[in-house]
This record gives sequence, structure tokens and C-alpha cells, in this order.
Amino acid sequence: MERKSVQIPEADLARQREFQDRVRGLFESRAVPPAACVDTFGCQQNVADGQMLMGMLEEMGFSLTQDPGAADVVILNTCAVREHAEQRVFGNLGALTHTKKEHPQQVICLCGCMAQEERVARRIKESYRHVDLVFGPHALWKFPELLFQVYETKKRVFSVEDEDGRLAEGIPMVREKGVKAWVSIMYGCNNFCSYCIVPYVRGRERSRQPAAVLSEVRGLVEAGYKDITLLGQNVNSYGNDLDLGYDFADLLADIDKIPGKYRIRFMSSHPKDATKKLFDTMARCGHVAKQLHLPVQSGNDRVLREMNRRYTRAQYLDLIRYAKSVMPGLVLTSDVIIGFPGETEAEAMDTVSLVEEVGYDALFTFLYSPRPGTRAAQMPDPVPRAEKQTWFDKLLEVQNAMSARLHAAYVGKTVEVLVDGESGEADFPLTARTEGNRLVRLQGEPSLMGRFVNAQITGSNTWALYGRVAEK
Ligand code: SAM
Ligand code: SF4
Ligand code: F3S
Repeated sequence: MERKSVQIPEADLARQREFQDRVRGLFESRAVPPAACVDTFGCQQNVADGQMLMGMLEEMGFSLTQDPGAADVVILNTCAVREHAEQRVFGNLGALTHTKKEHPQQVICLCGCMAQEERVARRIKESYRHVDLVFGPHALWKFPELLFQVYETKKRVFSVEDEDGRLAEGIPMVREKGVKAWVSIMYGCNNFCSYCIVPYVRGRERSRQPAAVLSEVRGLVEAGYKDITLLGQNVNSYGNDLDLGYDFADLLADIDKIPGKYRIRFMSSHPKDATKKLFDTMARCGHVAKQLHLPVQSGNDRVLREMNRRYTRAQYLDLIRYAKSVMPGLVLTSDVIIGFPGETEAEAMDTVSLVEEVGYDALFTFLYSPRPGTRAAQMPDPVPRAEKQTWFDKLLEVQNAMSARLHAAYVGKTVEVLVDGESGEADFPLTARTEGNRLVRLQGEPSLMGRFVNAQITGSNTWALYGRVAEK
């Protein structure tokens, strides 16, 4: 498992920039620039990858569109984490046969985590012949070369070799307009939770150099971004592969020194690697939001062991206790899987009781989905889906009541929020986020967009708070 961080040499990246120019050259004689549509299906890390693809497309002279029918290049940037995510992509791919019939020159690309799965690449090769280019996350940095190859050879191109993965610095990104930005600080995962496909499709953990992350965050703050989320499958193992004696808490502390008014968040944290040092650092650093996403997955020790999570219920609860003790008012969220193979009703109810005990502000809940190639997919799974669904409904009921209760406690308080969007609703036209990332529907002027304001909370429900701008 041990390996050093592998940076892609600058000369190889420069070569990709040459391919960018060559693709741009292909469209030079056209009066209207070519258009590209990038559709992203996955997690924030996939969103960040999609922003890089858009960055490279812009360098190649493409304008960006949301309409696949109007695009010369369509990219489906996919997720493999659950079967449902894959089915959606196959549905979308099917629909693209029509756009391609109307525009036979259209180039259709499938990339992201699904593309890295051997069985998916095979299925595309055999049954989705209108797809021109398939490349996994490992080949993202080579996208200009691969696209050029499609145009040049007029043949289908597959770049899906299994590898540990490398790191590319300096790929341009088209970020969302507004105040939120994502920064990948590391890629890959070494944990091999028994249910999870991610380590197979994203390769081994590799951390970006601290200086590269710091300079990106500094640039974002200077450009006006105010809510910056650091991304990694397990940010708590940041730096392990760099041998610098520098860990995630050190990175947070250094980012915190960047001057300006902004918030830093991060996700995800694996409980097995969460340390008191991390929580102490969070507590001390003014820019670091007092919010923690600490996925627990299950509240039962046997199931946790079968999941290969490498912590117990008691250890998890100890972490939560410590984090709350150094950060009173900490907003907590988590991921939970119900219906892991062999899980009994009593074991699922252990998860429900843990959720009650912790008191999460919100929860991301999933019904177990077998992923071919993972260890759990081989395990006997005798419980019918309908029964798992009843456990799942119980969990939702408990969590929804908890979220509603915690949200109700905000009513009457004044909290600082960052105005980040327009809701389209007449009564509460703005959306905003508290430090803990709770959604606030806000009365106020659109001119407040992108600003920190004090909001008086006047109402709440399970999913959101309601309020109006208070005088500062
Ligand atoms: N690396 C993150 C972590 O360990 O916290 C999680 C990344 S994963 C993309 C997001 C969530 O999807 C996981 O925390 C887990 O709850 C859920 N998940 C992963 N594989 C799953 C599966 N096979 N079935 C159902 N849910 C799954
Ligand atoms: Fe998947 Fe576990 Fe890695 Fe998260 S830590 S990406 S759940 S293997
Ligand atoms: Fe993310 Fe889905 Fe890949 S959750 S890492 S896009 S499998």
C-alpha cells in the first residue's frame, strides 16, 4: 500500500496544452465556436473534476451549454457508488442516441468513476456504439489528447487502464459563479470499506503538496470566494504519502492564516483517522466552520467490522464527545448505510439508536447497494429489500424528528449567515448558510448576495430555517 506521491511531470502537462491548441485549430474555420455540455452525476470530487473538464474545454475554444442537443461534445461525468447512479447514466446515454442522429458529428464521452469499471467499459464497447470516448478518473488530465485522437482517427477511444493514479497540478477550472468553491486536497482511497467501489475506481491515496493547496485557497479568497470546501475521500489521511511530518490539522492551521473573511469546510473524514489534534485545531481556527461530517455507516460493532471500518461504536461516540466538548454548538452530519449484507433488524436498530444518541443535524442515508467487485457483494444477503426499507423508514423518522427539533432551537436567535443564492420564492427570495451549513431561507434584498449578514431566525422545519436580515 505504501507509495510516494506521483506528480505528473510538467513536460507531460505542456504536451496536453499543445493538444488543446490542436483541437482549437480544428474549429478555426467555423463562424460559431463549438459548444460542449458537461453533465456531472457524482459527489463533490466529481463536480471538481467536471470543473476541470470545462476548464480544458474552454482552453480548446469551446463555449459551454447545458443543452446536449446543441453541443458538439457531450460529456457524462459519472458516479459508480450505487446501482441507481449507474442506471441514471445508462438512461441518459440511451437518450443521446437521438441527439447523435440529429448531429452525426457530435462526440459523446463517458468519464468519471463508472468509466473506470471494467464491466461498464465492456458494456459501452459492445452495446453503446454511439459513445466515442471513454476515460476514467486516472486519464482526466489527458482529455485534450484523447479528444484530439477521436477527431483525428474517427475511431472510438478507450482510456480506462487500471492504475494507482497520479496527480496533475495547474489544470484550469471553470468554477461555479458565486461564493462557493471546492478544492481537492487529495485523491484516491486506501480504506477498502467492504461495500465501496471508490478505491477500485479512484486508485490509491495521493496528497497534493501543502504549498499547492495553500496557493489555490489564497487565490480563491482573493477572487472573492467565501465558502471553500476541502475535498478528499478521507481528508484525515492527508499527507501520509508525502512524508513531510505534516498532517491535515497542520494544513487547516496554515490555511486559517490566510487573511480575509471566509469559511473553510472539509469532507469526508474517516473516524478511524480523526484525531483530538484535528478537533483542537478546528476549535482554535477562526475561519474553520464548526461543522463536522463524520460518516459512521453503522452503529453496530459486528456490522462495522464486516464493513472494514476499523472503529467501534464506543470509539466513534468518544470522538463525538470530545469534538462537542471543544466545540460547543458543533453541527454534526453523517452517512449511514441500512441493509448491509447479513444485517439483522436489531443491528439496524443499533444504528437508529446511535443516530438518536449523537443528535445529528442532518444525515445522508443509503440503502445498501451491491457493487460488483467489492467484498460485500460476495456476502450472503438474505433480507428482502422491502424489509430493509422498513428499517430505513424508521431511521428517517427518527432523523427527521431530530432535524426538526434542532432547527426549532434556532428560532428567535440571530446568527451570522452567508447569502449564497436566490430561491425564486416571493416570500423568502434569498438562500443563505449558517456557519454549520444549515440552509436559511431569507427575506432580504438581492444586493446582499455574496455577503455575510446577521439573520434573525423566525421559523424552521425539518430541512431549513427561515429568517430575515437583522441589523448588524
Ligand atoms: N469517503 C467517504 C467516507 O468514507 O466517509 C464516503 C464516500 S462515498 C462516495 C459516500 C457514501 O456513500 C458513503 O459514506 C456511504 O455511506 C455510501 N456508500 C458507499 N458505497 C455504498 C454502497 N455500496 N451502498 C450504499 N451506500 C454506499
Ligand atoms: Fe469508500 Fe470507505 Fe474509502 Fe469512503 S473511506 S471512499 S466509504 S472505501
Ligand atoms: Fe464520487 Fe461517485 Fe466516484 S461518489 S468518488 S463520483 S463513485
